[in-house]
Amino acid sequence: MRNLLPFYAVLAAACYSATPDPVRPAPGLKGWILDTDHSSYILGINARGGLQHIYWGSRLTTADDFAASHFPDTLQYNPVDIGNEEYPAWGGSRYEETCLKATFNDGVRDVFLRYVSHQIQGPVLTVVLKDAKYDLFVTLTYRVYPQAGMVSRQATIENRTAQPVHIESAQSGVWNLPADNGYRLTSLVGTWGEEAQVIREPVQQGMRVMESRRGHTSHEANPWFAIDYHGQATEEQGQVWFGALGWSGNWRISVEQTHEHQVRVTGGYNTFDFDYLLKPGETLDTPPFYGGFTDHGFGEASRLLHRLERTELAPHGAQSRLRPVWYNSWQVYGTGVTEANQEELADKAAALGIELFLVDDGWFHLRKKTDAGLGDWFPDTDKFPNGLLPLAQHVNRLGMDFGLWIEPEMVNPNSDLYRAHPDWVLNFPGREPGQSRGQLTLNLARDDVKEYLYSALDKLVAENHIRLFKWDMNRRLADPGWPSVPTNEQRQLWVKYTQNLYQIIDRLRARHPQLEFESCAGGGGRADLGILQRVDQIWTSDNTDALDRLRIQEGFSFAYPPKVMMGRVPPSHSGRANTPLEYRFLVAMMGSLGISLNLSTITEEETILSRRLIEFYKSIRQTTQNGDLYRLASPREGPVTVNQFVAEDGRQAVVFALDGSQQFLRPYCPPARLRGLDANARYRIRPLHESKLQEKATIATGAYLAGHGLRSEERRVGKECRSRW
Ligand code: GLA
Repeated sequence: MRNLLPFYAVLAAACYSATPDPVRPAPGLKGWILDTDHSSYILGINARGGLQHIYWGSRLTTADDFAASHFPDTLQYNPVDIGNEEYPAWGGSRYEETCLKATFNDGVRDVFLRYVSHQIQGPVLTVVLKDAKYDLFVTLTYRVYPQAGMVSRQATIENRTAQPVHIESAQSGVWNLPADNGYRLTSLVGTWGEEAQVIREPVQQGMRVMESRRGHTSHEANPWFAIDYHGQATEEQGQVWFGALGWSGNWRISVEQTHEHQVRVTGGYNTFDFDYLLKPGETLDTPPFYGGFTDHGFGEASRLLHRLERTELAPHGAQSRLRPVWYNSWQVYGTGVTEANQEELADKAAALGIELFLVDDGWFHLRKKTDAGLGDWFPDTDKFPNGLLPLAQHVNRLGMDFGLWIEPEMVNPNSDLYRAHPDWVLNFPGREPGQSRGQLTLNLARDDVKEYLYSALDKLVAENHIRLFKWDMNRRLADPGWPSVPTNEQRQLWVKYTQNLYQIIDRLRARHPQLEFESCAGGGGRADLGILQRVDQIWTSDNTDALDRLRIQEGFSFAYPPKVMMGRVPPSHSGRANTPLEYRFLVAMMGSLGISLNLSTITEEETILSRRLIEFYKSIRQTTQNGDLYRLASPREGPVTVNQFVAEDGRQAVVFALDGSQQFLRPYCPPARLRGLDANARYRIRPLHESKLQEKATIATGAYLAGHGLRSEERRVGKECRSRW
């Protein structure tokens, strides 16, 4: 048996001071200061009317600080080099990454942006720029999130000329770091079943591109970055510049060091296969790009980002409900769900204390295996002869919410929808579109497809008491042809597909205010700050093996909050069979708890344990879901993973210490030196298992817990340890 969770009740108070005037003019300069509680960001207009970056780093507390900073020097416009422009458009001698690349109707292919006007409204600064000659406008919107210590940037490109303009690159902005050598990039890479793996590499002269060309966010790379200086930052110390892009389609973030040691992070729409025809009077909005800075390491960077996501971006923000404990039978029945087997499971789930019951894949027309039915979003009459309503009502009567799996963007050739609308799929004329998992992708950029899906889903919700949709997407986009529009408009697909996806969810949410969503794309293929504004939880990975999950969840937590990170207690066949049930529970509890056990076959002993752990989870989830996360020991760096959560009001902290090794002899577990506690407060210590903790005191101060730490049991070959083998 691996080390199990001790947890502690704490008494402390957290406080954040509000920042007055998060956006203000920079005194004596033509520019603005954007202040968060943790950092300052300064930009200004140079002598030629160009917008220049001035400063991004620790909070500057007096006007003298920035008057003495680099502002006067950087005002010089250097026509030969890109300099530290805030939103460079391609034109002249610019050889590094730019934010905008356009071709005008007369063949002119450069753009020179000049300041036109600006406006400050509370935490929002808008700056309007315009090409020196043509009526091509760019409005930059900066929004300050003082408490989260972050700033978001977004650009709107507007064609006020009388001719169409081809936009070949549209980026949200470029984050400039202080010019220097020696930075280090941290990013998240992976693949299906192994999402969010943390990698680190030096930033050197040249460019490193992180991107997706797959039409969704992707398992392979995630639109998040963190950069520290000389590898000096740790979890709790050191300067970290970090950011994330809010887009669930093709995205791109480039990290570049110029020959003059400027370090620039540019992000927005992927330029691959990108050509957006902007007609007269039309606008194109880029995704928001969020950035932050901290002096307190990667841990604080994550906590700030989590705060932004939880309190500002999540659908109901700080008011969003705690995530319910939910049940999903995918790992038990696959597509073999029926009214009878789901009702039986629902009875057992309710008895365990589960709060939401979700029917996964297999409930709809013709869906016997995964090769048919996608597109026909009505119940299969063999499996659900009376429709879904009787099951939904049964689930509701048991006191649980009802959830349903859908995969709206896809269609099987064996479906009524495809037979009626073969032209609705992505395809190039005269070529056979490739199938993956037996399915084709609907062209969601088409408004008729969008309307069909909206109506079908709206009907499902209205008729079946649906509280949560698990919105899945099990293949990547390919064959991205859109034959029904002119050739020079087809590539708008990369933008419109995702915009329409967002619109469907937004409209459904507006019409059904109780409706919630899980974002899933064959596991964690659609996790980003765009979808996060529309969904309540994200399916982290199809890989539910508890040991593999330690790394996946750690990487996920760098960018996304535990509240949206769906964990799942898998049946023993979905992972290493010798992993104890309690261990599987504890790993899943570090996010929002889901259960996938076969409730019909688990033993009486397992049932009792599950009920007890679900009850225990409910007593800590306010802290784990809405509190601050401290990653005290990383599964990448040693055999033991330790995560600590501190409640928003500081009154409770929860510590998970898990041996993730395969060693026979239990590895040394370093003391958990707790963070974020009030040094003078006294905390009551409540281990889940007395025997797992060396600490025998039941009350300790924050100072003691931070300095001395909590020690787990002695290293030894115990009876439980041996029982693993
Ligand atoms: C994907 C999801 C799984 C499950 C299946 C159903 O793989 O990630 O959780 O819903 O689809 O087909």
